[in-house]
Amino acid sequence: MRETSLNHGWTFAEGFDPSWTTAPLSGQSVSLPHNAVDLPWSYLNEKSYQRPFTYQRVIPWDEAFRDHEVFADFEGAMADSRVWLNGEEVAHHPDGYTPFAARLTRHLRAGDNLLTVRIDGSENPAIPPFGGQIDYLTYAGIYREARLRLVPGLWIERLKIETPEPLAATKTVLLRVDLSGAAAGASVEVMLRSTAGDEIARAEATGAEGTSITLRIDGLAGLALWDIDSPVLYHAEVRLTSPAGTDRLSDRFGFREARFTVDGFVLNGRKLKLMGLNRHQSFPYSGYAQGRMSQRRDAEILKNDLACNIVRTSHYPQSRHFLDCCDEIGLLVFEEIPGWQHMGDLAWQKETANNVRAMIERDWNRPAIIIWGVRINESLDNHDFYVETNRVARELDPTRQTGGVRFIAASELLEDVYTMNDFVMGQFENPLLNRPRMALRSRRETTGLPAPVPYLVTEYNGHMYPTKAWDQEQRQVEHVTRHLEVLDAMFGDDAVSGCIGWCFYDYNTHSDFGSGDRICHHGVATVFREPKFAAYAYSSQRDPSTGVVLEPVTFFARGERNIGGVLPLMVLTNCDEVELHYSNRLVKRVGPDRTRFPHLPHAPVIIDHRHFAPEEMGLWGQAWQSSEVVGFINGVEVARRAFAANPLPTRLEIAPDAATLEAAARDEVRVILRALDQCGNKLPFLPEMVNLSVAGPAQLIGPSQVMLAGGSAGFWLRATGDRGEIRVTVQSTRFAAQEITLQAV
Ligand code: GAL
Repeated sequence: MRETSLNHGWTFAEGFDPSWTTAPLSGQSVSLPHNAVDLPWSYLNEKSYQRPFTYQRVIPWDEAFRDHEVFADFEGAMADSRVWLNGEEVAHHPDGYTPFAARLTRHLRAGDNLLTVRIDGSENPAIPPFGGQIDYLTYAGIYREARLRLVPGLWIERLKIETPEPLAATKTVLLRVDLSGAAAGASVEVMLRSTAGDEIARAEATGAEGTSITLRIDGLAGLALWDIDSPVLYHAEVRLTSPAGTDRLSDRFGFREARFTVDGFVLNGRKLKLMGLNRHQSFPYSGYAQGRMSQRRDAEILKNDLACNIVRTSHYPQSRHFLDCCDEIGLLVFEEIPGWQHMGDLAWQKETANNVRAMIERDWNRPAIIIWGVRINESLDNHDFYVETNRVARELDPTRQTGGVRFIAASELLEDVYTMNDFVMGQFENPLLNRPRMALRSRRETTGLPAPVPYLVTEYNGHMYPTKAWDQEQRQVEHVTRHLEVLDAMFGDDAVSGCIGWCFYDYNTHSDFGSGDRICHHGVATVFREPKFAAYAYSSQRDPSTGVVLEPVTFFARGERNIGGVLPLMVLTNCDEVELHYSNRLVKRVGPDRTRFPHLPHAPVIIDHRHFAPEEMGLWGQAWQSSEVVGFINGVEVARRAFAANPLPTRLEIAPDAATLEAAARDEVRVILRALDQCGNKLPFLPEMVNLSVAGPAQLIGPSQVMLAGGSAGFWLRATGDRGEIRVTVQSTRFAAQEITLQAV
């Protein structure tokens, strides 16, 4: 295989005309990933991209085209794509989330070849997830990468790698090499390598079996398991030789056993409670169109900052870069097909079955993926349809269980795992009727089944308690508490394999949802992935050896809460004790509240009237004092936070995720701005406008003026392709101007 990038050199125009498929298009020069219509951060018009757009690119003749099969591969384009080469239609792909290939062979000619792609961003009811309402935006454009692929007349279509009995001391690898093209006289050689590149094993087979060649490599000793703390990956390199020439394909895999059982989830023979968040794949302004670094960063934040061990790719297959990172860092994945509540006619359902196939064939070698979601998220029962999606999934991949995310109780279980969006938290609570609040419903109640079945909670909270980063402190406390209560219930119930909260970050949506601003403020982080307090409900569950967390859920002011003061003060922490020093006068040392949260690995510390009489901190009208919160492990101080009684804008922190970007990959880097006081705490209510300017080989994604909200703002920079120094200047009225430099290398 020879592949070259098709990411650059496109001309882009609004609309589509059939005559454009044969004549050079005049329009804007663009690169992929590309968003057809950039949107404002909020109060956007979601109709603006729901129409056709055209991309065109020249593919100059190459002598190698003569004796090769030639494909244009698209990793993702929204929503309905048609591809022409020199005026002849070569592909149609009615799905916005799965990859497709346009076979160009035989349509190519000497000179310039015109590759034209019409994408239609309309919410076409014939295409899943469309036909009803959806609580997210799908944007439009060729928003993932594309490449030109040349293969010989007999080529490797796909590679499937299985690791039966991964826990055995000597391991086995099964490989199935699917071939396309003329099949005579093919032989396949496979080499397994470690991540460091050392050869582990080799095998050969010839192609007597038609269009697939299978190989089995046994007796592999000394190999490591893939696990969340040590995600060891191996490489399989396949070489196909035939009279038509040589083709190669490689992929990564890992040895791991993942099972949902009636007693919970088991990874490599060890019970593991799954704690995670749902992720959409959207970014402010640029929609779906962000590349490798942005995708990877989301996985890193989930695993490294928020201490999650699972993510659900709600509600569709996501970028290969995101999943690559999940494989590399050990973040488990629930991947699901496109869909949201609505179910279309039989043709629509057939597209869904195609999506199951496309998702599984794309990702079946990834050790991070532990379950396939084969049901339209939150749809009603449909026996025949879901028998079929399960059949397709099991036939393609008998090694993974299926799940189907539902919100109805006693729904027909055709999958292996009953996966439930449980929004009971806060629903039936009524102190007047003496009805306590429930965090999770019981498995028995939701499944309606007398016998236990594997069970996973796939969403909770979200729209039940939308919370903005700048909302009043009491709301933030309640937001945190709801997440903690669900986590506590999950950790305390062996029937529940885990729970995946709604959701990682706030996202743009349709007017039928959100806060009128076209944003669902459902995240534990903002659209810029800046944590709200609720994020620390998750991160504080980590073992302190991997990082100490000490996050008081307060802006620490006398008058922010109703009635005033900061008690009860919840401190999200994995310390064993916390001291509150109020004005150096009062010092109270308090342990985690294991009465209220008996099952959490790390219950929060709650400092309240049991420790202080409210008047000890002074009453309304008396002076408010500076304070400190100190965390201890085994009696030793491990963390300290100071809070000023008179917080003042002191410093604008500029925090880029990385100091270098790869120029050729047109990497993107996120930069977070934080308005900090003299103690380094965010100033949540400083509505400061910040002007950004960028010099050097990068461009700003989004506007050059951003507003601090909840104490922070964010933006992404995209490398333009050249190497050199990138200088970012940040100016505002309350802070001194600053410049940071990054390098495009
Ligand atoms: C669920 C849905 C999600 C999101 C969430 C908000 O019903 O599956 O996509 O809309 O509600 O809480």
